[in-house]
Amino acid sequence: MKRNMRPLMFFLTAIFLVAALLAAKEQVPVSATIVPPRTLHVLKRIGGHMIPYSPPLIIAHRGDSKHAPENTRPAFELALKYRPDMVEGDYHHSKDGEFIVIHDHHLDRTTDAVKKWGPGISDILVSSRTLKEIKTLDAGSWFHWNNSEFTGTKVPTLKEALDVIQKSSVALIERKEGKPEDLMRFLRNEGLTNDVAVHSFDWDFIEELGTFSDAPSRGAIGPPWGKYKGRVLTESEKWLNAEFIEDIASRGAQFFGWNSWVTAESVALAHSKGLRVFIYTIDDPNEAQRLVALGVDGITTNDPELMAKRLRQ
Ligand code: G3P
Ligand code: CA
Repeated sequence: MKRNMRPLMFFLTAIFLVAALLAAKEQVPVSATIVPPRTLHVLKRIGGHMIPYSPPLIIAHRGDSKHAPENTRPAFELALKYRPDMVEGDYHHSKDGEFIVIHDHHLDRTTDAVKKWGPGISDILVSSRTLKEIKTLDAGSWFHWNNSEFTGTKVPTLKEALDVIQKSSVALIERKEGKPEDLMRFLRNEGLTNDVAVHSFDWDFIEELGTFSDAPSRGAIGPPWGKYKGRVLTESEKWLNAEFIEDIASRGAQFFGWNSWVTAESVALAHSKGLRVFIYTIDDPNEAQRLVALGVDGITTNDPELMAKRLRQ
């Protein structure tokens, strides 16, 4: 090598080494979970400039509940094929306190509980049966889509659901029933406090959850369907407004879910308060595109396949 080329070679080698080091650093997995980068952004609660996510986050509602029985392993597995940013699912507690993934308070609609334990019995509460009893139920035979066969599908526990979802997405856990301390204990045991998000229609629950220093990212769901501040609201009062936004922000949430009763102004106001806006439950891509034009950050859908095709073009 010519003597006068040595500094250049030294310089190029140093650049190469720095680049290699940076690349290696990028590739070090934070955890076993492969978190879609934008979802990680939500989980890390990086507020600051609230520019709407573009394209919006796609959140698979109860899994791919269009093509498989909602809130079951097949629904979650199917959803993951379409790379959703989050996969939503609901939980209740069994009689023996286990976390059971199911939407309704009752077992009737999405399992064969009435057929199995009837006749003459209905409105069978999830909380009235043990995990062992619930595991004997069939959560798939009620569901029909294009001759798909789901008979024999079980009701999953929250751990079983998260084992599937967290492989390549992020769970958006909806608490239907249960105490914040029990959820925190569960998430700590699983080592997932930083890797999932939690939301609920119960805004007091979301506020209480936020009192734990290691609480996960949290969202309120609206509009309030029961009483709000002691009064049942009319339909027109359920549009997203400044009062709701202030209330949600004051409870320490990072995001909220709302139905399509939002405007560009109300979404911008939410962003100015550091809140992300996810809209449920949208299965019509044209409606999703209308909402995206209003500036919303995420679309919650039963059909993640169709939504991914249309929103990620
Ligand atoms: O994402 C919000 C949505 O999950 C709330 O509705 O009835 O599915 O719990 P629901
Ligand atoms: Ca839900």
